[in-house]
Amino acid sequence: MNQPFHNGPKKPDLLSVEDAKALDVQTMADLFKDHINPGQFHFMKLLGFHKVKIERAEGMFYIDQNGRKILDFFGGFGSLAHGHNHPRILAARERFQDEKRHEIAIAFLSQYAVALAKNIAACSPGDLDMVFLGSTGSEAMEAAIKVAERASGRKNCKIVHAENSFHGKSKGVLSITDSTLYQGEFQLVDNRVKVPFGDLDALKRAIENDSDIGVVVLETVQGGGGIIGAPTEYWQGVRALCDRHNVLWVADEVQCGYGRTGKFYAFEHHGVVPDVTALAKSLGAGKAAVGAMIARREVYMKAYGTPKTAMIHAQATFGGIGEACVTAIEGLNVLYDEDLIGNSAETGAYLLERLQAIQAKYPQIIKEVRGQGLMIGLEFQDFSRTLPLALRPMVAILDDKLKGSLSGFIGALLLRDYDVLVAFTEYNRNVIRLEPPLICGEEHVDQFCEALDSLLSRGIVAIVKDFVKSQMR
Ligand SMILES: Cc1ncc(COP(=O)(O)O)c(C=O)c1O
Repeated sequence: MNQPFHNGPKKPDLLSVEDAKALDVQTMADLFKDHINPGQFHFMKLLGFHKVKIERAEGMFYIDQNGRKILDFFGGFGSLAHGHNHPRILAARERFQDEKRHEIAIAFLSQYAVALAKNIAACSPGDLDMVFLGSTGSEAMEAAIKVAERASGRKNCKIVHAENSFHGKSKGVLSITDSTLYQGEFQLVDNRVKVPFGDLDALKRAIENDSDIGVVVLETVQGGGGIIGAPTEYWQGVRALCDRHNVLWVADEVQCGYGRTGKFYAFEHHGVVPDVTALAKSLGAGKAAVGAMIARREVYMKAYGTPKTAMIHAQATFGGIGEACVTAIEGLNVLYDEDLIGNSAETGAYLLERLQAIQAKYPQIIKEVRGQGLMIGLEFQDFSRTLPLALRPMVAILDDKLKGSLSGFIGALLLRDYDVLVAFTEYNRNVIRLEPPLICGEEHVDQFCEALDSLLSRGIVAIVKDFVKSQMR
């Protein structure tokens, strides 16, 4: 029906879905600059991402407009546990559509939302049984700090967070995200106390000196900080300290959860259970936006357990939306049916071992390899100090443009010459993050490690010169 029925407005000049699929890469770039984020385009250009149009994605690979297969060791910062377009996830979504199932369920009970909540509780240890469903990690973390704040019983409840933390960019969690860049000039929530990550004494001092502290929020493995973990004694100390002072511990597992480190939750490596946790990213199985806050029942009931308090933080419009829930339900089933968590532990150990061998070969380039499961950080030496004097000014200019990512040189060349995609790190300019899908096999690790080895064998001066030259063109 092309003709409008009534006297409504004339249809604007809209692109169709088929138009969108057919856009060429130059038009995509122009539209990105015109309507999304011109400043961000500058970084995409430096890294060579602006020339790539992804036409398809399957398993461990993206396929671009030229049929080039790009190995995905980025994995959307841990959002692609099942790989791209897992057939069982696609089939579950197709069936849901064919059956004309409903999506928005604010009025009626949703069979999909309750089933997903039950499944998440089944995957969670202890009495982490109450689930709030949302669409993003930030939303899940907002829900986490709110439930903990209410349940803490403190009138002027303060929240402890860590140096180099990342918990999202919405206003509440931005306040506990330790980044001057992201926090900018915004007015933040000021009931917060910052401590160094992994330092039990500092946490103890903070809690003992301030009885208003009611909540401690920590990523179990810091992702944006550059894949930084803490030992078991720390986590057991956190648990004991919180119990002693009646403080609630919120574990942010948005990036490190969902099997990424070789256990469903990263905190399970340490034999402790937090009071509240959060998942997102891979919970949507690479096809839907799903986030979840999971609280111990006692904590949840204290915060929202009566008819009077129940609606204070009830689900938002898209919380528990049908197809997203069905996608997440199938995703959890696939995670266990295919033993992706076991694979994460085993293949991750193999990746770590191969990378350590590469580090031993190039100690002047790679400073450290660390992590667990398929959440690995590759930290480079500070090249700006070790490069020949003549190259340093040029590199300093590019380094500033890349907002510090000398590892960006390596990443850009891995993509250009070896068809491999890796991820960069917000706070530590020298760290590349490796978070491939949990379906990753040894053959993919081999492909990645051979590419890295071959690139590094050129030597750091050749790598930097090549990168600088590519930016001159
Ligand atoms: C640990 C952690 N928490 C929270 C978030 C926020 O998630 P989202 O980007 O889905 O809002 C992220 C995102 O990278 C994260 O890594």
